[in-house]
Amino acid sequence: MLRFCLYVSTCRLARGSAMEEVYHLVAGARASNRRLSVSGTLIFSGTYFAQYLEGPEENLSLLFQRICRDPRHGQIRVLLDSRRERREFPRRSLQFSGPSMFVDRHIGQFFDEDLQGQQRKLAVGQLLQMMRGTTQAIADGRRLPPRSNCSGSEVDQFLLESPA
Ligand SMILES: Cc1cc2nc3c(=O)[nH]c(=O)nc-3n(C[C@H](O)[C@H](O)[C@H](O)COP(=O)(O)O)c2cc1C
Repeated sequence: MLRFCLYVSTCRLARGSAMEEVYHLVAGARASNRRLSVSGTLIFSGTYFAQYLEGPEENLSLLFQRICRDPRHGQIRVLLDSRRERREFPRRSLQFSGPSMFVDRHIGQFFDEDLQGQQRKLAVGQLLQMMRGTTQAIADGRRLPPRSNCSGSEVDQFLLESPA
């Protein structure tokens, strides 16, 4: 059995250098996740993070505790935390996709106290669907070059990095 979790959080990095710092963070995280047999996907929308992680119970718990303590983000809201047999994102230790206004708005909803019940459930499903969409786009070779700044959240598209 594998544990998986999905959370959203707000970015605390300075706007001008956030994108570069996130690329750096992802490079380190990929190596570490591979060692822990954790896979998943991270979205950095410019304002928010959304991350799905899955792996062996103990490893995931240790990693998630570390992530929760990380000062580079805050207001962590766990949307899903459960167990499953098979991986949702088996091919990458950490897939990454960046700035999108659409995704930014979508993640922003989770910080609105009014989002509850069925509506919240639907929004969680849509977020997962976006994450699957970026996986498929990478698999199809629909990649765009990475950007070096994060002020481009007006760019209404996913920026996809090459596979790990
Ligand atoms: C949004 C976000 C997502 C992160 N995701 C991962 C991850 O998937 N794997 C990982 O090893 N570290 C991740 N980190 C970094 C960890 O929080 C931590 O800095 C790193 O694991 C090194 O921890 P240590 O300094 O205690 O060894 C993430 C950080 C942030 C802010």
